[in-house]
Amino acid sequence: MRRSHIEDRLITEQELDTEVAEAYRSIRTSLHYACFHNDTTSLLFTSSVAGEGKSTVVSNMGILTALEDKKVLLIDADLRRPNLHHLFRTGNRTGLSTILTGYSEAEPCIQQTHLKNLFLLPSGPIQPHPTELLGSARFERMLAALRKEYEAVYIDSPAILSVTDAAILARYVQGIVLIVRPLLARKEHLKKSQRIFEPFSNKIVGVVMNGKTDKS
Ligand SMILES: Nc1ncnc2c1ncn2[C@@H]1O[C@H](COP(=O)(O)OP(=O)(O)O)[C@@H](O)[C@H]1O
Ligand SMILES: [Mg+2]
Repeated sequence: MRRSHIEDRLITEQELDTEVAEAYRSIRTSLHYACFHNDTTSLLFTSSVAGEGKSTVVSNMGILTALEDKKVLLIDADLRRPNLHHLFRTGNRTGLSTILTGYSEAEPCIQQTHLKNLFLLPSGPIQPHPTELLGSARFERMLAALRKEYEAVYIDSPAILSVTDAAILARYVQGIVLIVRPLLARKEHLKKSQRIFEPFSNKIVGVVMNGKTDKS
């Protein structure tokens, strides 16, 4: 796997014996126990504020799951500040926004990444009303169809406290993973996002502490 295919912060096959890969593997194992016995395939990765590591964590989880021989789809549902096409160095001319505005079916917008089992549905071009797009019946139908084709569907999203998009996405998925970066998320942020996600508390399958140090 050549570095030129992906950004530095993604793990490669050559790095599977590193501490970072090990940390991701233990998250993967916990999620496996929390979800896969009851056939959970769609997981939303979100956090209270921007910059806590949603895009990084969802991408590395996708890589590790794909390397375990599962067919994985990553969806970039951060329609405001999309990032996954940068991380995987794919195009973004068509994607989720193209499907939700009715200009395409899902399949032509899905791209193969550098890994055989890992696929990406990028955000697509920025559109004026992302919240409405994500809330449309089209999204739900699309996700239901994709879940039949992929063994795992991992969804990247905007932060809970910045816009309502994450709470909308939470309705459709089977499980939610919260990323918390203690350096960025203050207690009041966590309390607020907990309140917003209260209706979906039974779907929260994991909390990932990202970049925790002894001081934080
Ligand atoms: N544990 C960490 N330590 C240092 N930098 C990190 C860590 N996790 C993420 N980052 C960096 O923080 C920035 C934001 O991460 P990103 O995954 O894009 O967050 P989000 O998608 O939640 O906005 C990126 O530059 C990323 O490399
Ligand atoms: Mg992001």
